[in-house]
Amino acid sequence: MKNETRKNQENIFRELFQKNYGTPMSVSSESLNHKKQRFSKVCDIFKDDNDITIHDVGMGVADLYGFIQESHSQKKILYSGTEILKEYVEEASVRFPDLAFFHRDIAEKSFDDTYDYLLMSGVFHQRRESSIRQWEKFYQEIIKNSFAMCKKGIAFNFISPFVDFYQTPVYYCNLPKLINFINDDLSRFFEIKHDYALYEFTVFVYQESYIKSKTVQPEFQKYFKND
Ligand SMILES: C[S@@+](CC[C@H](N)C(=O)[O-])C[C@H]1O[C@@H](n2cnc3c(N)ncnc32)[C@H](O)[C@@H]1O
Repeated sequence: MKNETRKNQENIFRELFQKNYGTPMSVSSESLNHKKQRFSKVCDIFKDDNDITIHDVGMGVADLYGFIQESHSQKKILYSGTEILKEYVEEASVRFPDLAFFHRDIAEKSFDDTYDYLLMSGVFHQRRESSIRQWEKFYQEIIKNSFAMCKKGIAFNFISPFVDFYQTPVYYCNLPKLINFINDDLSRFFEIKHDYALYEFTVFVYQESYIKSKTVQPEFQKYFKND
């Protein structure tokens, strides 16, 4: 039985896709430049890597892959994605027939496939009919399950709570709640970038094993768990 949040999400995005086919609004983006700004911030998580696997959770029609082809062509990146809306999965498969796209719900569970990085862009913006409590449970499930599937880290964005006005269907992230969730359930290794034009911020959360692998100083080894 599908949960309410998922049903709401599918209805919103199906309608947007049908009404705005071929435009950024088909995945609820204001403009191409808004999307590029968001993607560029999320992709900063792999700026020092050259050969990686990434998985786009809530990929829409895989516009992020188009951005990666344009802006990170010098890197070797194996891209794949997951989406709950069948119409988006079909459209992404037509656009990029050689790539793997999964029609599945990452809010339900984590899956066995793993990647260096999992990215979520624009997935937690449109709360619509879901209550704030339902939405916070929903984003925590997706983020937790995505984190379980990453070898290095995850990147995602939220609308900032520091805005000029509110719109009811939008989720303005409760930052203290988010930070406590990250530290308690995921990892104490994280970054928050609240430094760009949009009323949004981008978060990176890293696996402890990844940070440990980059920390060579013997005197710092005591700060990591031994596993
Ligand atoms: C605003 S769109 C963003 C699409 C894409 N990331 C982009 O920037 O073009 C949010 C997407 O998240 C998807 N989504 C929502 N819940 C999901 C879930 N539980 N698992 C996978 N995708 C989900 C929606 O269907 C929608 O396509």
